[in-house]
Amino acid sequence: MSLTVSVFGTGYLGATHAAGMAELGHTVIGVDVDEAKIERLARGEVPFYEPGLPELLRKHVDSGRLRFTTDASEAAQADVHFIGVGTPQKKGENAADMRFVDAVIDTLAPLLTRPAVIFGKSTVPVGTAARLAAKVRELAPVGDQAELAWNPEFLREGFAVEDTLRPDRLVLGVEKGREGRAEAVAREVYAEILGRGTPFLVTDLATAELVKVSANAFLATKISFINAIAEICEVTGADVAQLADAIGYDERIGRKFLGAGLGFGGGCLPKDIRAFQARAGELGVGDALSFLREVDEINLRRREHVVNLVETCAGGQMKGAKVAVLGAAFKPNSDDVRDSPALDAAGRLHLAGADVKVYDPQARHNAEAVWPTIPFKDSMAEALEGADVVLVATEWQEFREADPAAVAGLVASPKIIDGRNCLPAEKWIEAGWEYHGLGRFA
Ligand code: UDX
Repeated sequence: MSLTVSVFGTGYLGATHAAGMAELGHTVIGVDVDEAKIERLARGEVPFYEPGLPELLRKHVDSGRLRFTTDASEAAQADVHFIGVGTPQKKGENAADMRFVDAVIDTLAPLLTRPAVIFGKSTVPVGTAARLAAKVRELAPVGDQAELAWNPEFLREGFAVEDTLRPDRLVLGVEKGREGRAEAVAREVYAEILGRGTPFLVTDLATAELVKVSANAFLATKISFINAIAEICEVTGADVAQLADAIGYDERIGRKFLGAGLGFGGGCLPKDIRAFQARAGELGVGDALSFLREVDEINLRRREHVVNLVETCAGGQMKGAKVAVLGAAFKPNSDDVRDSPALDAAGRLHLAGADVKVYDPQARHNAEAVWPTIPFKDSMAEALEGADVVLVATEWQEFREADPAAVAGLVASPKIIDGRNCLPAEKWIEAGWEYHGLGRFA
């Protein structure tokens, strides 16, 4: 059955969720306080890079099934509401900034004059949903008829459309003892996905909130585990990529997220592990997650290591060394530079006095806003021109498939640091390059 759905927040999560809900057959209204963003979305334009999303958005804007507004009262008429606003790290603190989520509830709840279910999708500190559920009941003119449930999102940037339409599981947290219509409504919203046999776990609110942060904490830990092993490989001459292949064949371990390199970044993993620790501390169980501080530190150490490696390759002299940094986005197929290891490394090199030139196929605009003093180039060739050292910092396909013999002619000195262990090392070495991986060929 087709429902009317509103989605509050139109960033990576909200815009993708709104388009995804339209694709599932619902009539959707996307809401944001940012007028410029809403105008662009209403014209069918996606204000960020996400493969497949522009096509999906345009399809449903054109069909009339998907609209955008800054007017929350228009959206309040929907049967179902999703909260997809950001929960960034607070300035100078580890905790998550909840003001955008709270603002949605403060705006929406007083407008609810007919029964409605609000599904929170944003990543929040455990305990938030119970607090908001009570607030909704208190503020909504319909009182108990306005329900709040938690339905965390697990989408990855670069695969956001796929992850929204074909998730590997759906999780719904409902208020124990006050179960209302939320589960039945969620089953209607996701009927197509559930019809394919997708696992659907109904939990209490706290479990649903914790599922999300635990998943991200686990992924971050897996990456930092292999990066810690990479540090050992570097001093013993072992090869972390072969090691990861070998342990990854054990089904209990698995090869995914054992990619050693510059480490994790982005708008989720770093801030989520910090907010999780902060929340554990507030709950008096900080020790339980103290290992996440180590996970964070291992991760940040990789950036420092890469900068030192560049300096060594430049003959110990950073000042004036010409360094080509390939990649600025936190991962390929994204233009997101939030907490990007690639851009952070470029910034550190720049501050240390290196003559840095950066090229990224999609993230230039966002990266320039963070580092206006770094020269960003329009092509890989321009960045490589005359370089003493090349650093591959994001594993874009364009870099992985570059011809080492052809690009050798562009640089001053054929030295490459593969910060993502993504290049065919033997080919580069054969073509005359001095090749350095992270945790291999050190
Ligand atoms: C992540 C989670 O995967 C997703 O489920 C959640 O909803 C949001 O956070 P995302 O931030 O899009 O998604 O990126 P992800 O693909 O998880 O990568 C995170 C970071 O880890 C990237 O910087 C990536 O380069 C790095 N990474 C990933 C590694 O360093 N090694 C790996 O093996 C895998």
